This record gives sequence, C-alpha cells and structure tokens, in this order.
Amino acid sequence: MEWAFGAGQQAVTFVTRINEDWYLEHYLTYYSAIGSFAPTPGQDAVSATSLQQAMGMLYKPLDPGTGMLKCFECHSTGPVSVGPEREIRPREPGVRCEACHGAGGSHRAAALSGNTERARTLIQNPKRMSAAELNQFCGHCHRQPAPLGVTTDWNVPWNLRHEPVYLSQSACFRRSGGKLSCLTCHDPHTPLQKDDAAYDQRCRTCHTAESHPPKPVCIAKQPSDCVQCHMPAVSPQAYLRFTNHWIGVYSEGAKLKPSR
Ligand code: HEC
Ligand code: HEC
Ligand code: HEC
Ligand code: HEC
Ligand code: HEC
Ligand code: HEC
Repeated sequence: MEWAFGAGQQAVTFVTRINEDWYLEHYLTYYSAIGSFAPTPGQDAVSATSLQQAMGMLYKPLDPGTGMLKCFECHSTGPVSVGPEREIRPREPGVRCEACHGAGGSHRAAALSGNTERARTLIQNPKRMSAAELNQFCGHCHRQPAPLGVTTDWNVPWNLRHEPVYLSQSACFRRSGGKLSCLTCHDPHTPLQKDDAAYDQRCRTCHTAESHPPKPVCIAKQPSDCVQCHMPAVSPQAYLRFTNHWIGVYSEGAKLKPSR
C-alpha cells in the first residue's frame, strides 16, 4: 500500500501505483466507526470474477474527470506534478496550511526580515472572503454550488457530502445578507466539533429567544441540539455519516430534503 487517503476521521482508503497505465484503489478501507476494514465506498457492490477485481478498482492516472490525479488534487497541498512514467507526485500529502493560505515562502521571508506589514499582504487569509466566496473556495474540494441551470439530485444521499451545495440552498444562507458562511460554524484549525449542542450558540446568533418562537413556533419546547432536527445526519452507506447542510424543517424520516 503506497498512499493512504483520508485523515482517519471517518475512513482511510489505500491506493497503489501499478504501472504507467493504472493505479489501484484497494478493495478494503479502514473505517474509524468500527476500528476495522470493510469494502471501499463504491466497491461494495462489486462481485469479483478475477483476482485483480478482488484486489480493488483500477483507475487511469490522468483521465480527465475520473483519473487518480483528481484524488491527489483534493487530498494534497500545492500543485501536483506528473513524472515521465505518469507517476503522480503531490508536493505535500494532506490538506496543509498552504492549501488555504496559498504559497507562503515570500510571506515568511518578509516576516523574517521584520517587514510585518508587507508579510501580511503576501499571504492569503480566507477570513477576508465573503460567504459566497467561501462556498467557492472551500468548494474547490468540498464541491461548489451548482451553476445556474444545473440541478442536483437531492435524492442521492452521497451528494450530501457536498456541503457548499446544500448550505447555499438554506434560507439561513440566502436571507441573511452574507452573514452565514462555513466559518460561522467551523474553525478549520481545530478538529470538527462533534457535540450537537456546541452548534446551538451559532444558531442563536441569529435565532435569538425573541425571534425564534414568535413566527410559526419551533415545536421543540425547550429547543436545544438544533442541528439534530434542522441539519440531520445521513449515512449513504454503513460506517460513513454526513450532515445535511441544507438547514431547514425536515419531516419525520425524510432527511435528504427539507419539507420546506
Ligand atoms: C485542498 C482541498 C480542501 C480545501 C481547499 C478545503 N478542504 Fe476541508 N477537507 C478536505 C479534505 C480532503 C477533508 C477530509 C479529511 C479527512 O479524511 O477526514 C476535509 C475535511 C474538512 C472538515 C471535517 C474535518 C474533520 O475533522 O472531520 C471540515 C469541517 C472542513 N474540511 C471545512 C473546510 C472549510 C471551512 C474550508 C474552507 C475554508 C475547507 N474545508 C477547505 C479538503 C479541503
Ligand atoms: C473534488 C475533491 C475530491 C476528490 C476528487 C476526491 N476527494 Fe476524497 N474527500 C474530499 C473531501 C472534501 C473529503 C471530506 C469529507 C467530505 O465532506 O466529503 C474527502 C474524504 C475522503 C475520505 C475520508 C472518508 C470519507 O469518505 O469521507 C477518503 C478515504 C477519501 N476522500 C478518498 C478519496 C479517493 C481514494 C479519491 C479518488 C478516487 C478521492 N477521495 C477523491 C475531496 C475529494
Ligand atoms: C482548510 C483551510 C485552512 C487550513 C488548512 C489552514 N488555515 Fe489558517 N485560516 C483559515 C481560515 C478560514 C482563517 C480565518 C479564520 C477566521 O478568522 O474565522 C485562517 C486564519 C489563520 C490565521 C490568522 C490570521 C488572522 O487574521 O488572525 C493564521 C495565523 C493561520 N490561519 C495560520 C495557519 C497555519 C500555520 C496553518 C497550518 C498549520 C493553517 N492556517 C491552515 C483556513 C485554513
Ligand atoms: C447568519 C444568521 C443565521 C444563522 C447563524 C442561522 N440562521 Fe437559520 N435562518 C436565518 C434567516 C435569515 C432565515 C430566514 C428567515 C425568514 O425567511 O424570515 C433562517 C431560517 C431558518 C429556518 C426556517 C427554514 C425555512 O426554510 O423556512 C430554520 C429551521 C433555521 N433557520 C434553523 C437554523 C439552525 C438550526 C441554525 C443553526 C444550525 C441556524 N438556523 C443558523 C439566519 C440564520
Ligand atoms: C450552521 C452551522 C454550519 C455551517 C454554516 C457549516 N457547517 Fe459543516 N457541519 C456542521 C455540523 C453541525 C456538522 C456535523 C458535526 C458532527 O459530526 O456532529 C458539520 C460537519 C461538516 C463536515 C464533516 C462531514 C459531514 O458532512 O458531517 C464537513 C466536511 C463540513 N461540515 C464542511 C462545511 C463547509 C465546507 C461549510 C461551508 C460551505 C460548512 N460546513 C458550513 C455545521 C455547519
Ligand atoms: C425536536 C426537533 C427540533 C429541535 C431540537 C429544534 N427545532 Fe426548530 N423546528 C422544528 C420543527 C418541526 C419546526 C417547524 C414548526 C412549524 O412549522 O410549525 C421548527 C421550526 C424552526 C424555525 C422556523 C420558524 C419559522 O418561522 O418558520 C426556526 C428558525 C427554528 N426551528 C430554529 C431552531 C433552533 C435555533 C433550534 C435550537 C435552539 C431548534 N430550532 C431546535 C423542530 C426542532
């Protein structure tokens, strides 16, 4: 096993270069939820009829759209280069500082020479981006809201992992004048907050005690754990779980699309 994809929060999938023409995505993935191995997403339906199929799925290195290069582009930092035998060479594995802050060499040099003001202008800070710009920026890897005219199939649970696509549908996003962004709820420098109640205060920055009950009242008597009802978790397959970022009112048992 040559490469390991995924930070291990949910899963780690293994990839090996076979030769100039093929990369292998191994059949077994490690799932943190069970602390053990099970079929890789997308491969559980494969009933292998050859040893090669039993080992996993083959990918062309550079095919536009489906090539293994795509995996590396989202899961590494800096431009990915390709060697003479089509071997894929990421600069730095994983999503590191420069994936979000841009190349930092000249910033570092300016800071070391004591020119703090200049250093500031030489580094990208996503904090300066608007909510819509963050959807695009984080969406380079997490997927961007569909352009006008393109529709998302809301019945496919796998699409839920495209958080910017879903968030941009929310009334909270559309009607808050750019005040709701990925950064309202996430600090990219710390691990994901897993405690539902921890998000309540984020909701309450806009839905205060005064503005929450007055209109059609939220049926929860003492509303807490807001996300449990308004951002339900969905498992597209065993051991993986994603959060519906289309904040809304969901009817019982229907977690893919809000009832309104
Ligand atoms: C270069 C691609 C890339 C960019 C840009 C990017 N992400 Fe991610 N992000 C990833 C990958 C890959 C993972 C999954 C790591 C793993 O396997 O758990 C991830 C995971 C996450 C997680 C879950 C972390 C966890 O502990 O489970 C959050 C939240 C997140 N990203 C938010 C953001 C936000 C907000 C932005 C924009 C400011 C952003 N990301 C930009 C690729 C990216
Ligand atoms: C368009 C960018 C993109 C591409 C292409 C991509 N990933 Fe990811 N991957 C992500 C992001 C973002 C996450 C974070 C989880 C999430 O929210 O979807 C992730 C999560 C993962 C995880 C953690 C478990 C999970 O499913 O969340 C694994 C393993 C993984 N990717 C492997 C791969 C492999 C192998 C390929 C190529 C076959 C690939 N990825 C292609 C962006 C990408
Ligand atoms: C997934 C994207 C992402 C990654 C990876 C990332 N950052 Fe950030 N960084 C951000 C965002 C977004 C902000 C603005 C946060 C805010 O103010 O809400 C930020 C802010 C900062 C700031 C503060 C700037 C200020 O205005 O005060 C520093 C310093 C920083 N990052 C350094 C780092 C370093 C060092 C690393 C690597 C260890 C890193 N970042 C990795 C997205 C990222
Ligand atoms: C930046 C402000 C902001 C934040 C933060 C916010 N919302 Fe909203 N939310 C709004 C606005 C604005 C509306 C639209 C109100 C209207 O149409 O009158 C809304 C609407 C809603 C609706 C009604 C949806 C619909 O389609 O009618 C629900 C449910 C909701 N929010 C729940 C939440 C929850 C739960 C959280 C926290 C996870 C949250 N909101 C965070 C601003 C916000
Ligand atoms: C209103 C709050 C809120 C906003 C805004 C928000 N998230 Fe989340 N996000 C959550 C919650 C809640 C979870 C689930 C945490 C848990 O695992 O318990 C989550 C989980 C995630 C995960 C882990 C995989 C998953 O789907 O569970 C990723 C990746 C992520 N968010 C990315 C983003 C990105 C990118 C944006 C901006 C487009 C964004 N989030 C905006 C609340 C938010
Ligand atoms: C037990 C599930 C549940 C919990 C927990 C919950 N809600 Fe609700 N909420 C609902 C339902 C159901 C509705 C729709 C009520 C209706 O239309 O009569 C609703 C409606 C709303 C609305 C829309 C009101 C309107 O005018 O259309 C907002 C905003 C809202 N909730 C915010 C919150 C916030 C913020 C929290 C956390 C403090 C929260 N909810 C916790 C189930 C819940």
